[in-house]
Amino acid sequence: MINTKISKIDESNIDIEEIRKHAKLLSEGDTVIFPTETVYGLGANALDEDAVKKIYEAKGRPSDNPLIVHICEQDEVNKLATDINEKAKVLMDEFWPGPLTMIFKKKEIVPQRTSGGLDTVAIRMPSNPIAREIIRQSGVPIAAPSANISGRPSPTKGKHVCDEMNGRVNGIIVAGDCDFGLESTVVDMTSEKPMILRPGSVTKEQMELLIGEVLIDPSIEGKADVKKAKAPGMKYTHYSPNGDVFIVRGEDSKVINKINSLIVENEKKGLRCGVMCLNKNKENYKGEVIGLGDNLEEVGSNLFNALIEMDKKEMDIIYSEAFSNHGVGRAIMNRLMKSAGYKIIEL
Ligand code: TXA
Ligand code: MG
Repeated sequence: MINTKISKIDESNIDIEEIRKHAKLLSEGDTVIFPTETVYGLGANALDEDAVKKIYEAKGRPSDNPLIVHICEQDEVNKLATDINEKAKVLMDEFWPGPLTMIFKKKEIVPQRTSGGLDTVAIRMPSNPIAREIIRQSGVPIAAPSANISGRPSPTKGKHVCDEMNGRVNGIIVAGDCDFGLESTVVDMTSEKPMILRPGSVTKEQMELLIGEVLIDPSIEGKADVKKAKAPGMKYTHYSPNGDVFIVRGEDSKVINKINSLIVENEKKGLRCGVMCLNKNKENYKGEVIGLGDNLEEVGSNLFNALIEMDKKEMDIIYSEAFSNHGVGRAIMNRLMKSAGYKIIEL
């Protein structure tokens, strides 16, 4: 067990002294969890192989899975990567700082352990002010995967981070809930046509308005073998709560009837059943119901939190409504399908 230094920091009134203590841990090669606008990240010095090793240990993560390197100023990208094309510059100007990660050819300075042995590097400039400040104070680029134990839902609330990671890292900064609640969009910029390897809040449609056609790695929508996913992280089981997740897709009334009859059946067997749905349908379900929100943005920001809450309520089976596959819906369905192991009941 590591003795974890935990600090509560208010995003609207940042205690610089407290940030400095955590930044010092990072610059000395230790690990610190901090909030970003997407999910909490588990950070270490991206240029220090020994520090990066601690990330894999804390998460129990396979070490062929490359990490995203976080920077606080746009021009730092040039220290880490080469062959940055015009399209990438357009995307940076529009979406950085923010929830967009771009993959470039890496420079020598980025260690193999950070890039998972690939010759490319994933880079993101977060917008969360605490994230920006801790990166700035540490003076180094920060490798940071989501701050969950490998395979679990990514944490979007400080409390969940402490529950899971206290004793596994050197520092934790607890702040408010993350704005977006889904990890950043990952887009590969190393070929002529950029390709989305992981959908997120920055959508294909938004990018295409600025730079023309953007491809989507077919494996992320379950259309091809997930084991061939170009982002190594996408091939592992992910976002899995302890309960067994099923997605039910169809007209509202049919979905409601189906889920309710499945709940009756399963409760007879003594199984505890939960439901995740749009708020407008909340009253219609039996069982333990969590409303995910009124629109896709809200569903995105509440999804991981709801999966974690379902575990706390010790649900054996979790039914979820399906959502539209457009805009952020694409990212929501991608995470939901993975948490369900692609089990979907079509009506
Ligand atoms: O929003 C986020 O991106 C959060 C916060 C903390 O910034 N971070 C995050 O990191 O989600 P992580 O490690 O959980 O996910 C990184 C994803 C993985 O699927 C990984 O395989 C992919 O990005 N990736 C990283 N470097 C890559 C590379 N060079 N080529 C292809 N995929 C890469
Ligand atoms: Mg992750």
